[in-house]
Amino acid sequence: MKKVLIIYHSQTGNTEAMAKAVAEGALAAGATVEMKRAVEADDKDLLNCDVVAFGTPNYFSYMAGMVKDFFDRAWPTVREKMANKSYVAFGSYGGGGMPAIETVEKICDNMGMKRLYDSIGVQRQPTPENLKACEELGKKIAGL
Ligand SMILES: Cc1cc2nc3c(=O)[nH]c(=O)nc-3n(C[C@H](O)[C@H](O)[C@H](O)COP(=O)(O)O)c2cc1C
Repeated sequence: MKKVLIIYHSQTGNTEAMAKAVAEGALAAGATVEMKRAVEADDKDLLNCDVVAFGTPNYFSYMAGMVKDFFDRAWPTVREKMANKSYVAFGSYGGGGMPAIETVEKICDNMGMKRLYDSIGVQRQPTPENLKACEELGKKIAGL
């Protein structure tokens, strides 16, 4: 059984709705799912999972500060140990596209993590179709 970790930040609930949909999909596919706000997550969470789904809103064309803070805290101990881990990324933006998600991808790619599927970025509040896509993503990452 795959251990799926979902780490996210969300101030107004848009990215959180996506995170919940990813979690529902992964659970439905039989994975063990842990969903944590970035502020509550640490290096041990990363080391103890098989797949990570990172969720961040676009704040000032960058990942949310809380997600950056998570990487700042975890990176020193995990950076040499992530090459066997897989990840996906998702998040919401206001109008400026997906640069925030790209900043997450850059850190994960630099640690040698394997990006499994294209990241999902949605504008503001996710539609039912967006949430369905997140659920599908959760199912796919659980079935690896
Ligand atoms: C502090 C702050 C900065 C933001 N900066 C951007 C930005 O640079 N580009 C953009 O497209 N949206 C920006 N937004 C809009 C958010 O990305 C958008 O409202 C998103 O849906 C919020 O997701 P959340 O509900 O998960 O927090 C910003 C919002 C906040 C609160």
